[in-house]
Amino acid sequence: RIMKIASAIRVIPDFPKPGIMFQDITTLLLEPKLFKDTIDLFVERYQGKNIAVVAGIEARGFIFGPPIALAIGAKFVPMRKPKKLPGEVISEEYSLEYGTDCIEMHVGAVQEGERALVIDDLIATGGTLAAALKLLDRVGVEVVECACLIELPELKGRDRLGARPLFVLVKADA
Ligand code: PRP
Ligand code: MG
Repeated sequence: RIMKIASAIRVIPDFPKPGIMFQDITTLLLEPKLFKDTIDLFVERYQGKNIAVVAGIEARGFIFGPPIALAIGAKFVPMRKPKKLPGEVISEEYSLEYGTDCIEMHVGAVQEGERALVIDDLIATGGTLAAALKLLDRVGVEVVECACLIELPELKGRDRLGARPLFVLVKADA
């Protein structure tokens, strides 16, 4: 299953900048059987693990997170780019190559002590996931694991997650 999933992810060179090999998951979404296999692989891993929260990171964590949440009976919590959520938010800034970015979550979306899974499509430098973990730590949520479809191991993003386990389906060259 994983080999087929990997080969359905299209790689587009020099997007959005020269030298970047963009991992395009939209081609995987065009293959319902493979998209379902992808979701099932995560569901098989996380069902029955008493996970109350699936936190998905904007934007592509919003594609994979909700079907996993529904299948394991967890709530879905979006972690969004700044100024998108209308209610009171808690934010965490993180640094990019140039400047900073920020993710936000609604206050009250999660309760202290809840067990959570954090989902995104890809881990590169790990900055985004590390910020999500910090945010969830601040509100006392217990992150059981982070899960991504794709890891770019050369960028060593995994090292930025500390002791937090990271589960990935596919590894690719940066
Ligand atoms: C990409 C990807 C991850 C993040 C990984 O998202 O979808 O969320 O970068 O990078 P990192 O491990 O170096 O932090 P991007 O910020 O391009 O935004 P998008 O998902 O909204 O398109
Ligand atoms: Mg993203």
